Amino acid sequence: MSDEVGTVISTLEGPSTMAFSFVISNPKVRKGQFVQAKCEEGLLIGMVTEITRANRYFERAESVAEYERSGGMPSFPTAEWEYSIANVRALGVYSKDNHLIRATFPAAPGMKVEVADEKLLKDFLGFDDCGLNLGKLANHELDALLPLNGLLQKHVSILAMSGAGKSYLSSVLIEELLDRKPENGRVAVVVVDVHGEYLGFKHGSYGQKTKIFDGKKLRIALHKVPPQMFGEFLPELSMGGMRDLAVVVDELKKESKEKHEAYEMKDLINRIEGRKEIKESVKGPMLSWLYQLQRLRLFGKADNPSIKELAQSGNLSILDLSEIDSMKKKQIILAYFAKKLFSARRKGKIPPFMLLVEESHNFAREKAPKGSSISKHVIETIAREGRKFGASLCLVSQRPVQLSTTALSQCNTNIILRVTNPYDIDHIGESCEGIDKSMLGSITTLRVGEALVVGEAVHYPIFIKVRRRKSKSSPKGESIEILAKRYEEMQGKKEKDVEAFL
Ligand SMILES: Nc1ncnc2c1ncn2[C@@H]1O[C@H](COP(=O)(O)OP(=O)(O)OP(=O)(O)O)[C@@H](O)[C@H]1O
Ligand SMILES: [Mg+2]
Repeated sequence: MSDEVGTVISTLEGPSTMAFSFVISNPKVRKGQFVQAKCEEGLLIGMVTEITRANRYFERAESVAEYERSGGMPSFPTAEWEYSIANVRALGVYSKDNHLIRATFPAAPGMKVEVADEKLLKDFLGFDDCGLNLGKLANHELDALLPLNGLLQKHVSILAMSGAGKSYLSSVLIEELLDRKPENGRVAVVVVDVHGEYLGFKHGSYGQKTKIFDGKKLRIALHKVPPQMFGEFLPELSMGGMRDLAVVVDELKKESKEKHEAYEMKDLINRIEGRKEIKESVKGPMLSWLYQLQRLRLFGKADNPSIKELAQSGNLSILDLSEIDSMKKKQIILAYFAKKLFSARRKGKIPPFMLLVEESHNFAREKAPKGSSISKHVIETIAREGRKFGASLCLVSQRPVQLSTTALSQCNTNIILRVTNPYDIDHIGESCEGIDKSMLGSITTLRVGEALVVGEAVHYPIFIKVRRRKSKSSPKGESIEILAKRYEEMQGKKEKDVEAFL
């Protein structure tokens, strides 16, 4: 049922086909709310862009000063002079035969304005009964059911300052993907978890569907690393050095195929050491970089996990990188497994997947210094080509300004929580289509768990209130207060144990 909230008024600017204003008769009207008003073409749908309150009595400073001096005039009905005006941006019209068209004729002054009918709004915004329920549409009791196609056909970004609720929202998104019924289409979810914020999925109702891969136990089968990937792992290597290395790698690959035995880093290092034709000036640095790779304890004889273990329909795999300090190691892990996932997906060997990358600005940095862009290439490649193959990225970042613009511009849906840094705000405005100035302004005032969704997943940008998560939060993401309390408890317990012992 729709509720009446006001009456369209005639102003200098309107009503026009683009906008109209109405005097508010019901205080439940809010900025961002969707409203409807009848017009000749059908039902005009609009969004409240601003609300202003006015009271002629308080317009004149002398009167207000006098009023204050006399301690107020209780008998004077100042409140009755007050009125509020809502400005509405017209978004479209539901024609009488129920088609959505562009408004070509304005609402008439005097027309009643109602809160938009929720059934209509659902259709208007493109919500889907089988969609992903991320929360409620702000100012409405309507679930924001974002269609899977709109969200993941291409890619999605989740952008916000630290602590605004990115990982919480990502967890809600993952829950929705894990909860999908097979008949509605399920994807595999792979998370690159830099701070161990998703480990809670293993406990509670999603435990059965979750696998955690300890970063320290991850292994890359060296014999499966193509020579050009060595170039990415060793960005310091010159072109000539790269060629020499490729010759040796190809040779070892051939031998290991014949002998059915994988080679290891020490075999590669030994072979290069024994090579007379590689110039000493090239060999020295090449060996030292290979020793560096060896020290990462990442390369072995077989992949762990295998790509099939990593990507399973309706399941979640977490690459837990929280115990790894080396940025280079983290980048190599992402570069290798992302490339494998993409290539396996292209060949149809694994289901469509969503790869969620936390701190994505550290893995695909716009202005990456040499040596720290190992994983940038693969992220940009999946961003550009992934949609054709059902390989979707979810890039999470608290520094959008540092995130590769190539990757960000391919994110066709952007979910933005609170951001206050002006550089990040400008960057979001430039790289996310469909955001206007007033929305950018609102981003700074969002509270934790409130988000703006723009792009393919919705027909029109919307604000949502992210729903409560069902999965358990990670012990690693706990607040300083909880951590401090736990420490005190532990200390107290230790002291009691010592007393009991004495
Ligand atoms: N929708 C929500 N409802 C309730 N609590 C929330 C919501 N979103 C976030 N929170 C709480 O706010 C805090 C910060 O959220 P979260 O860890 O998701 O932020 P973040 O953006 O990922 O931060 P960081 O950049 O530091 O990783 C957490 O304690 C979380 O439980
Ligand atoms: Mg986080």
